[in-house]
Amino acid sequence: MQHFLDFKQLSDHQIQSLLGRVLAFSRRVDAAAHRQLLKGKIITNLFYEPSTRTRTSFEVAAHRMGADVVNISAGESSVEKGECLRDTLETLHAIGVDAVVVRHPQTGVLNDLLAEKAIDIALINAGDGCGQHPSQALLDTAILIAARGSLDGLKLVVAGDILHSRVAAANIQLLSRLGIDDIRLVGPTQLLPDVCPENVSLMTENFDAALAGANAVMMLRIQHERMDGLELPDADDYYQRWGLDESRLKLAQPDCVVLHPGPVNRGVEISNAVADGPQSLIRQQVVMGVPARMAIFHLLLADTNN
Ligand code: NCD
Repeated sequence: MQHFLDFKQLSDHQIQSLLGRVLAFSRRVDAAAHRQLLKGKIITNLFYEPSTRTRTSFEVAAHRMGADVVNISAGESSVEKGECLRDTLETLHAIGVDAVVVRHPQTGVLNDLLAEKAIDIALINAGDGCGQHPSQALLDTAILIAARGSLDGLKLVVAGDILHSRVAAANIQLLSRLGIDDIRLVGPTQLLPDVCPENVSLMTENFDAALAGANAVMMLRIQHERMDGLELPDADDYYQRWGLDESRLKLAQPDCVVLHPGPVNRGVEISNAVADGPQSLIRQQVVMGVPARMAIFHLLLADTNN
């Protein structure tokens, strides 16, 4: 396996073993052995969009596996001088980089690049426009398994800016592959897709109704940077209708867990009390980010090394 772009390219068996590996890495036994797994490898983070947790956790994951890491922000590289992505990747390959973690504002940018011509360096999608964010979906699914014991009976509400969210798209893709068929999408009509994605049981503006019987709810940030002129409700109206506070959370099952990929806009999509409350898994999601990215590196790079 050479690249990690989305879950379509993985077999069911590969998905299961990837998830198993995330959970195994999360136990942090054998840390010394992990540090040997990518010894001698060089990984570059190439980010054309801002990031805190994704970029840092890819970096920490690489360090925990003994790799060297080079970080590049597009604003500080030759990209500013007009260099195209392929030339940047070819340059990194020539320097000796083994894998590049790419975040880019253009949807499908890596798929398009590879369809045009192969590239001899492992590529990892860390978020492409409104496309996919597979490492986030991997960690979200791992945290749901860790928190609930399994995915059996999962009734997930995903709420917010579904239309522009690569986190929603990647989670729908992965959870569908894992047999989950009760996924409910909630948000203002203009932020819901025109066509209901496969395996989504409900698309609605009515958050309260969608929460009935739910045992997990994933809140999403409004992707202001991808609005393209779309009119949004004002912040107060948005919070009233699509914000998650304690009284709204009570409409779900009592053991309903709350996820958010971050960055969290407190008071816009979620209240402080819920974000920091006992049902929130937001902190644990961040923790799971590192083993999830270790498992991805392992899938692409470690087998050739050991
Ligand atoms: C998400 C992203 O970049 O898609 N953040 C993340 O990776 N944790 C979600 C967002 O920016 O809203």
